Amino acid sequence: MIEPLIKTVKLKKYYSVSSGSFFNRKKTIVKAVDGVSIKIQKKETLGILGESGCGKTTLGRLILNLIKPTSGKILYNGSPIQNINPELQIIFQDPYSSLDPSMTIEESLNEPMVVNGIERLEREKRINNLLDNIGFSKNILSRYPHQFSGGQRQRIVIARALTLKPSFVVADEPVSALDVSIQAQILNLLKDLREIYSLSYLFISHDLSVVKYISDRIAVMYKGKILEEGNSDDICTNPVHPYTRLLISSLPEYYSQHEDSKEIEREEKGNCVFYHRCPFADNKCENAESIKFKLLDNNHKVRCLKAKKFYQTKKSG
Ligand SMILES: Nc1ncnc2c1ncn2[C@@H]1O[C@H](COP(=O)(O)OP(=O)(O)O)[C@@H](O)[C@H]1O
Ligand code: SF4
Ligand SMILES: [Mg+2]
Repeated sequence: MIEPLIKTVKLKKYYSVSSGSFFNRKKTIVKAVDGVSIKIQKKETLGILGESGCGKTTLGRLILNLIKPTSGKILYNGSPIQNINPELQIIFQDPYSSLDPSMTIEESLNEPMVVNGIERLEREKRINNLLDNIGFSKNILSRYPHQFSGGQRQRIVIARALTLKPSFVVADEPVSALDVSIQAQILNLLKDLREIYSLSYLFISHDLSVVKYISDRIAVMYKGKILEEGNSDDICTNPVHPYTRLLISSLPEYYSQHEDSKEIEREEKGNCVFYHRCPFADNKCENAESIKFKLLDNNHKVRCLKAKKFYQTKKSG
């Protein structure tokens, strides 16, 4: 079997946070990432889809070794990642804060290569090649970030992330800060660069249409856990988990039948992280010791006790 480029095994990151008033301080544990096992193959894009606060950024930073896990493993080409590895890079959401305003574009592009001891001729070669592939001429090198629009800056930020010839890039909401008209250009650029440089992406977004456009596979995340994972087409056309169906808007009818309010809110109970919002929750869900993945066709995995029933009903209906 081919070794995945990136593999995480039961990865966890818990934070202990203080809450309450000054006189009534309480410590609570935030399970930012809670037992995530994913695999990403060479030249593959895995989209991570979920609402704000579900743990997407924490997962990306753990894989790059920018933060230490509470427990679990991260393997790159089959070996544990020990230090920060230049072959693994990140592109952030905000192109305005990702470039130092006091540095020319040339200085910004050179910086990671200088830090990594790459000699001048090789640096020039890489920069020229990247400029060609992001659609800029050498004229931009003497300019400063403020002379560019958000979309142009994000192109430069992407080029900068590729100067060290990575094989894997975490793209953390890379188009969320951009105008919708520019988003498709950047997504197409990321797709083209994936082909040219044989890259793999972990592509993080809260926006289904964006994740769907770029990803080969999608993992849906909620409260630190992956609830559903499969090929993009299967997830988008045949979502099974009640949370995925809510995200993909095929559920409002269930909510409206249930109560006047659009969403159910009940006490958090049991081991299903979606129990408190799920219109299908029953005693079995509340009392289940653990909610394991159910495997459907085509390597489509769903963390729900009723996954097989939902899947059969949809297939026959
Ligand atoms: N350094 C930290 N200290 C305490 N809590 C944190 C820290 N970083 C993230 N969190 C919490 O972990 C959860 C997941 O955060 P994050 O990974 O940023 O989510 P997302 O990127 O999906 O919006 C959130 O509840 C957030 O408040
Ligand atoms: S396990 Fe039960 S509560 Fe959880 S998502 Fe499935 S049906 Fe809903
Ligand atoms: Mg985030």
